[in-house]
Amino acid sequence: MSSLQNAMRVIEQDQAEPGAPGRDAVAAAVDEVVRATAAAYTAQSSSYEQARESQPWKWDEYLTSTLLKRVRARVAEGKLPLGTATRWRLLDVGAGYGRDVLRFAGEPDIEPVALENADGFVQYLRRAQDEGRIGPDGVVVTDMRDLGSIETGRFHSVRVHATLHHLPLVSYGLGADAAVSGFRRVLAPGGVLYVLVKAGSGVNVIDTGEGLGGRFFQLFTPDLLRQLLERHSFSVVQMEEAVEPRSSGDVDWLFALAVAE
Ligand SMILES: C[S@@+](CC[C@H](N)C(=O)[O-])C[C@H]1O[C@@H](n2cnc3c(N)ncnc32)[C@H](O)[C@@H]1O
Repeated sequence: MSSLQNAMRVIEQDQAEPGAPGRDAVAAAVDEVVRATAAAYTAQSSSYEQARESQPWKWDEYLTSTLLKRVRARVAEGKLPLGTATRWRLLDVGAGYGRDVLRFAGEPDIEPVALENADGFVQYLRRAQDEGRIGPDGVVVTDMRDLGSIETGRFHSVRVHATLHHLPLVSYGLGADAAVSGFRRVLAPGGVLYVLVKAGSGVNVIDTGEGLGGRFFQLFTPDLLRQLLERHSFSVVQMEEAVEPRSSGDVDWLFALAVAE
């Protein structure tokens, strides 16, 4: 049995009977999922870029404009003060090869920062930095469970697009809870969290047919996502579901916008 299969077994056991495998076993299983996910994206970073560029989806642009409208309205209404900043700061978690960060950099009022842990994608982001397309402070290389290098309240928005579902929902505050706790800490009060995850239930190793092989996914029901966000002091202000038609098969998505209380 592979290490990832072993990790899956521990995670499924923990989800069926929270805490039963013990903290060390759950922590090791989550670490294995993160390692395997980063290795898969690193091995296939260029084919991932090709798949994304060849299959753009209109809903993505709708979600982006929904986020921008919400943040801009909160800034204009005084619900999200920028302090001395001249632009609002957006952290793009799991930025991949940087497509969206580069798009946000073209907006006059946004200072985007890419966060990534897969070496293959980090190389793309560093190249964009060397070419001056991303600013000198525009790339943070870390696991989304560890935002310790980022100061508290630094960002006005945190965007987690198709990334959080690579961490399992497990006990002991590990996995997805560790990440969401960090998102809340680095957001300024009144800041906006954007989350897009695959919809469904349970955990799975799915091959999305993009040449990436099998990757770990935690699937989310609306209730599970809402509970996760609310236990870290977020108020959900919008939730939507959609089905993306892909040549490899339809994908169910769940989107949420939440405000840091
Ligand atoms: C499905 S891709 C989405 C990439 C990009 N947001 C997009 O929509 O094109 C998931 C991204 O999350 C990153 N990721 C997965 N687990 C991560 C972790 N623990 N910490 C940081 N990034 C992670 C992957 O390396 C990958 O870039």
